[in-house]
Amino acid sequence: MKIGKLLEKAKTEHSLSKDDIIELLNSDGILLCKAADEVREKYKGNNVHLRGLIEFSNICGRSCYYCGLRSENKKVERYRLSDEEIFLSAQNAVNAGYKTLVLQSGEDSYYTVDRLCRIIENLRKNDVVITLSIGERTFEEYKILKEAGVERYLLRIETTDRNLYGALHPKMSIDNRFECLYNLKKLGYETGTGVLVGLPNQTISSLAEDILFFKELNADMVGIGPLIPHPETPLKDASKDNFDMALKVMAVTRLVLPDINIPATTAMETIRKNGRIIALNSGANVVMPNMTIGKYRKYYEIYPDKICINDSPLKCIDCIKLKIETAGRKVSQTKGYRNDIN
Ligand code: 5AD
Ligand code: FES
Repeated sequence: MKIGKLLEKAKTEHSLSKDDIIELLNSDGILLCKAADEVREKYKGNNVHLRGLIEFSNICGRSCYYCGLRSENKKVERYRLSDEEIFLSAQNAVNAGYKTLVLQSGEDSYYTVDRLCRIIENLRKNDVVITLSIGERTFEEYKILKEAGVERYLLRIETTDRNLYGALHPKMSIDNRFECLYNLKKLGYETGTGVLVGLPNQTISSLAEDILFFKELNADMVGIGPLIPHPETPLKDASKDNFDMALKVMAVTRLVLPDINIPATTAMETIRKNGRIIALNSGANVVMPNMTIGKYRKYYEIYPDKICINDSPLKCIDCIKLKIETAGRKVSQTKGYRNDIN
């Protein structure tokens, strides 16, 4: 089918076959991104949701081949924020008007559910939505955290390609990861997932399968990140040129899941000047500025040259607000649930 016709179909039906998706991913992306922008405007309006990201521990027991926080990387200084520092980071974000906080860490077993519940209880004294992003846990643990008031959870599947997943995630199981995601959905979390784009041996066909998986899971949020090779990881020599394909994967995701929340990821801004604005004009409607206070920001080095590591949280807020408004969009005042139109 001609690209224009395919996009017309996608804009009304929001369903695409694997072959359709492959065709769109093989296109130059210009019409695709425009269609995704239109769908975003129709279903999500012009507001951009800011989610305050608090990276509270960079300690990780896993060894994902691409990640700078993998346990084998001895060159990164490891930290955990104290409860007080987490609270202060949150307070800053709330005072600046944030309605959602995202607490993210490596897979750090120090954080038992009890510890996490104490932290969450403290943060919930504010009127904010809490999102967790701390990796794989059991159904029971997810259940307790949900009951403690966590409403959203982010867990990227990273890739749905079994062979690729196996090659990049030692001692991990893709089936367990799928199960975690279905457990989160079952428990009523707004569930976020996503993939990396640009992994060695990743094919267009496998990216198309990734998008079909987002649809099958009925993900509430999808974050797509271009791989940025980290020098202290086995993928240090992988391709760096992953922005355009990541953008296209994101745009197709918007077409098939028109009402979900899609972030313009920090990784996109890191490898392309104005990458987040380009993403916001290609289907995205969320930005997640880093609200971690103090000296730790630079140690959360998932990938190299991450933006804003030497800036203060308040500078980041002003900077991103200005960019959003310059792009003709508005900062949302709502909590930004999937069902919120604005
Ligand atoms: N480049 C880009 N993104 C990465 N992530 C991990 N390592 C890298 C990298 N080198 C992403 C993973 C993870 C998220 C927190 O960061 O997708 O889920
Ligand atoms: Fe930390 Fe993959 S390296 S979860």
